[in-house]
Amino acid sequence: MTIQIKTVTGEAIQPYVMDLARLRMDIFRDYPYLYEGSLDYEERYLIPYLRSPDTVMVLALDGDRVVGAASGMPLEIETDEVKRPFLQAGIPVDEVFYFGESLLYKPYRGHGIGHRFFDEREKHARSCGAYRKTAFFAVQRPEDHPLRPEGYRPLDDFWKKRGYVPRPDLMTTFEWLDVGDTRETGKPMMFWMKDIS
Ligand SMILES: CC(C)(COP(=O)(O)OP(=O)(O)OC[C@H]1O[C@@H](n2cnc3c(N)ncnc32)[C@H](O)[C@@H]1OP(=O)(O)O)[C@@H](O)C(=O)NCCC(=O)NCCS
Repeated sequence: MTIQIKTVTGEAIQPYVMDLARLRMDIFRDYPYLYEGSLDYEERYLIPYLRSPDTVMVLALDGDRVVGAASGMPLEIETDEVKRPFLQAGIPVDEVFYFGESLLYKPYRGHGIGHRFFDEREKHARSCGAYRKTAFFAVQRPEDHPLRPEGYRPLDDFWKKRGYVPRPDLMTTFEWLDVGDTRETGKPMMFWMKDIS
């Protein structure tokens, strides 16, 4: 399998925004996200990605097809829900580079592309000069969630090995429609953070 990794920043991300929307809608349907997305919402959600020259997207390409992507942006341009826990904890938001998502279609997993997604985004965050920390969040689902697949393996060990520390003191809530539900519900989201200075 030959997968090309391509990193784009700032306005060069624009041609790939709909690819990221497609990946989010396809892959976040699975546990633990169970996200029932809409393209309309996706377009609105993704517009801030284009607002800063520091924004980055790492693409995994199989030929011309985007089969995975990982994003990152200055925390400063994120929404209040994302920034609030950092502000409350007294962490300067302009020192944090925020990773939006890492997404890869199943047949391409287990070949180190997830590591490349982190390598490239951390390298980019360092090269910008202003950021001392990288952070992302993950949804918290109860251990006994009825839709948790048999044999499900959380990504926590992968993230810990990459130097990320879970921060139960940095929590926020995101609302979305779970697959099979009729109304949106709030989900607790916990941040993970790493010092890159
Ligand atoms: C996160 C994701 C992009 C990782 O991609 P990947 O290319 O399979 O990752 P890698 O091959 O680089 O493997 C990374 C590590 O995770 C481990 N891993 C692989 N598959 C895993 C799984 N299903 N569950 C937990 N850990 C796994 C690997 O063993 C590897 O650890 P190692 O370094 O000790 O060998 C991919 O799993 C994915 O798209 N998941 C669904 C979306 C998601 O949950 N994203 C994260 C939150 S936005």
